[in-house]
Amino acid sequence: MRFLPQIFERNRAWAERQRAQDPEFFERLCAIQHPSYLWIGCADSRVPANEIVGMAPGELFVHRNVANVVCREDQNALSVLQYSIDTLHISHIIVCGHYRCGGVQAALGPPLTQPLEGWIAHIRRVREEHAAELAAIPDDEARWHRLCELNVIAQVRILAETPTVVNAWKRGQTLDIHGWIYDLHDGLLRDLNVSLNGVPK
Ligand code: CO
Repeated sequence: MRFLPQIFERNRAWAERQRAQDPEFFERLCAIQHPSYLWIGCADSRVPANEIVGMAPGELFVHRNVANVVCREDQNALSVLQYSIDTLHISHIIVCGHYRCGGVQAALGPPLTQPLEGWIAHIRRVREEHAAELAAIPDDEARWHRLCELNVIAQVRILAETPTVVNAWKRGQTLDIHGWIYDLHDGLLRDLNVSLNGVPK
């Protein structure tokens, strides 16, 4: 018994389209992986990294989790970071959050069960750090959206303090970190203007 045949069918059609447009497409990608960008985004199905920036396979190294969190103890994220910087020599890290993020919304609500609560606790800390600013926003949706932005900004700063990033900057490697947010309403990215390309002063 074959499961999910419709997905295999879509995959076959996709591979055929790729080959029709570019006969050497797969051969070329087999030979080398040379992306310039590491994307750290939310696992949300509505924010597919490659699609929203119009990038083909091979152009974007991607790490996604609930609410685009960079946890200092997360072996998964730290390994992605190390490999993309030290081996792939990517020159840009993009932390991309999105408005209407369920993970961020959870950080504004009551405690969840584990293990999700342990993960959301990282965003609750961002919320606490900006408690006064958030409390001054009367509208629930506006407060939620602002926390989506603040979460991205916090992750950019955490990234800038990781040993992998600090060491890359010390040896003069070109590496910029950017904080962006995606709007589900119009499909557009917004730059939060928090880019870093050296240890913050
Ligand atoms: Co999300």
